[in-house]
Amino acid sequence: MANDVKFVVTGGAGFIGSTLVRTLLSRGRVVVIDNLLTGHEANLKGVRGQIEFHNVDIRDAAALDPVIRGADTVFHLAAIPSVPRSIDDPVPSHQVNIDGTFNVLRAAANARARRVVYAASSSAYGDAEVLPKTETMTPSPKSPYAVQKLLGEYYASVFYSCYGLETVSLRFFNVYGPRQDPTSPYSGVLSLFMKHLLARTSPTIFGDGEQSRDFTYVEDVADLCWKASQASGVAGKMYNAGNGNHYTLNQIWKLLQQMEGVSLPSNMAPPRAGDVWHSQADTAAAIRDLGHSPRFTIEEGLRRTLEWYRGAA
Ligand SMILES: NC(=O)c1ccc[n+]([C@@H]2O[C@H](COP(=O)([O-])OP(=O)(O)OC[C@H]3O[C@@H](n4cnc5c(N)ncnc54)[C@H](O)[C@@H]3O)[C@@H](O)[C@H]2O)c1
Repeated sequence: MANDVKFVVTGGAGFIGSTLVRTLLSRGRVVVIDNLLTGHEANLKGVRGQIEFHNVDIRDAAALDPVIRGADTVFHLAAIPSVPRSIDDPVPSHQVNIDGTFNVLRAAANARARRVVYAASSSAYGDAEVLPKTETMTPSPKSPYAVQKLLGEYYASVFYSCYGLETVSLRFFNVYGPRQDPTSPYSGVLSLFMKHLLARTSPTIFGDGEQSRDFTYVEDVADLCWKASQASGVAGKMYNAGNGNHYTLNQIWKLLQQMEGVSLPSNMAPPRAGDVWHSQADTAAAIRDLGHSPRFTIEEGLRRTLEWYRGAA
């Protein structure tokens, strides 16, 4: 692939976006759109000189057009990515996750981009009893965030059927790894576990800790984004981007304590509204159509993540 191929990553200064940026660097020219709401320029340390960065808000449609013009692929990851935040403060997350997504799709269609890869969410499945979750299940969103991300999938699919813009939606499950921000009450659970482990303090678990998640290492997700941008016969479709396993929060916290040789019993708090109880991806379709092949076991992923947090502490 020619090195002047242009890739746009919205949310490229965020946790997953900044890993995707590094995956794309050897493949073409990388342009990042991010308003730094939850992302940080520090996430681009070491690669900042090799990319083009635009501090643009995806709610600003007019500002998107010139940045997206000439793009081969747009990886759309910018979002306000939190279930509890969407419940506490639904207006901004509605505007960014729905209107902003519409703006990105529209700008990509206007620019005749070859493809958009959209970061969808496993929260769309809600509490459907059956595990693993397959793409053919009826969605059952339980929070504003889940509705918003699901609507983005529908819009992506409709931009293909109505305007011919190739789109692929990937339902990320619980992604973890380096650069996940642990500083907000809305932070992902594993980043908070890392913070507590290194500070030798007890984390708070909402519920009894027996809720389970398909934890997916961030490099596997970035790799799948790339594959989704290249696969044939997948336009307009949606795929699970999990790893196929599921672990309870209690299991993960125990594993982390063992890795550090410490004992820090967790505090328990009542379950949070909107939280899904169990989550596990059926990865068969992504393996078949996209060549999905997650490389990281939970132990290896946690080890790498812990080392990163230790260095960043
Ligand atoms: N982390 C997960 O486990 C997970 C699971 C399912 C889906 N996702 C999706 O993956 C994507 C990336 O999430 P993440 O975990 O890296 O979170 P993140 O908060 O680190 O990244 C989101 C990025 O979007 C940027 N952003 C927010 N509002 C914006 C706006 N109006 N204009 C431009 N940029 C804006 C933020 O500054 C941030 O850099 C999101 O779309 C999220 O919904 C994440």
